[in-house]
Amino acid sequence: MVFVEGHGAVLRDADGREYLDGLASLWNVNVGHGRAELADAAAAQMRTLAYASAYTGYTNAPAVRLAERLLRVAYANLSGVYFTTGGAESNETAFKLARYFWRRQGRPGKTKIISRIHGYHGLTLAAMSATGMPSFHAMFQPVVPGFTHVVPSYPYRYPGSGAAALEEAITREGPDTVAAFIAEPVIGAGGVIPPTPDYFPAVRKICDRYDVLFIADEIITGFGRTGRWFALDHWGVQPDLVSFAKGVTSAYLPLGGVMVSRRIHESIMQAPASERFMHAATYSGHPTCCAVGVANLDIFEREGLVERAAAMGARLLQKAQSLRQLPGVGDVRGLGLMCGIELVADKATKAPALQVGGKVVGEARRRGLITRIRTGQGGDHPIGDTICLAPPLVITETQVDRMIEILRESIAAVT
Ligand SMILES: Cc1ncc(COP(=O)(O)O)c(C=O)c1O
Repeated sequence: MVFVEGHGAVLRDADGREYLDGLASLWNVNVGHGRAELADAAAAQMRTLAYASAYTGYTNAPAVRLAERLLRVAYANLSGVYFTTGGAESNETAFKLARYFWRRQGRPGKTKIISRIHGYHGLTLAAMSATGMPSFHAMFQPVVPGFTHVVPSYPYRYPGSGAAALEEAITREGPDTVAAFIAEPVIGAGGVIPPTPDYFPAVRKICDRYDVLFIADEIITGFGRTGRWFALDHWGVQPDLVSFAKGVTSAYLPLGGVMVSRRIHESIMQAPASERFMHAATYSGHPTCCAVGVANLDIFEREGLVERAAAMGARLLQKAQSLRQLPGVGDVRGLGLMCGIELVADKATKAPALQVGGKVVGEARRRGLITRIRTGQGGDHPIGDTICLAPPLVITETQVDRMIEILRESIAAVT
């Protein structure tokens, strides 16, 4: 399909047909399509200064402005920002920061990363290795050594908290070998899986108990997606590092980054020359991307989009719950404007539905809704095909209702 135009939560294809953008394209067009002021911000910056590096001692005004704005809306314990060009590079940076921090503390043995089954963290080798979906490893083995996966909090399939699995993995691997734990506050591409409310507070305590850094991968959940600026705020938890991308520019230009806590920031700033944080990329802090990031945050604040996501998300989840009445629907879950509808072959046994979701997505597309699925799997960690919804935060009530009606018809047509 060739898309040629977009306005708000609506996409238009080359044949002139219109569709609801049910996943904000790739969970990233948070302010919606067609925002001329973001184009204007990019053009104005290009006219003023094409580029200035963010290497040692140099930076540029939009990068400084955006970093300051981010630290104002993110967790209070964070004090520094390193900019990247996307999500995978943000997670690579977070892993290197975790190793760096422990070396600076005189604990170079702390290098391993624990992540979660069903988690997605990006395409580069280390981010791929942290990703907990076997299909992303299959043709690229071997994975990077030192990456271990644990079950997430996933109430539908793993009753119990999931935090115990993290503690067990840290003690099994040896706390002196573990640098960090990485988790998406709500698993996104792995099937929209929000945790139980007790999970992240317990995770934070376990990380503190064993001196393990906690990296929040907020590449999807940041920038209002869950109805808060950043999602761990739902549970009053502060991470040591935050990876972000996607919503920081609402996808108008590629940008990402990592925010770090004061103690990690200080370990970098106070390092002697021989222990410098030797990590730099040409387009880190690109002025045009950062100028668009600032203009994007202006839209968020002016239009109250975080609050809007909370309100529209509540409506989305409430409407989506009615899909449980359909025979093939096993679970409906969500937080803010993220919603997952897990399909099963048998409601009683929760046997995963496989190769059904793709047909539902096809039916939905014919009816005017574009979205994606997490492909189901059996084995040790089963999950049914799961329809994922994460529309632009500007979606209207009528559009929310329409998405659910289209899915109701599409699931019924297929199952
Ligand atoms: C949670 C999460 N982390 C990391 C990434 C990787 O981001 P990128 O594709 O920008 O490298 C994604 C992309 O979908 C993601 O959803």
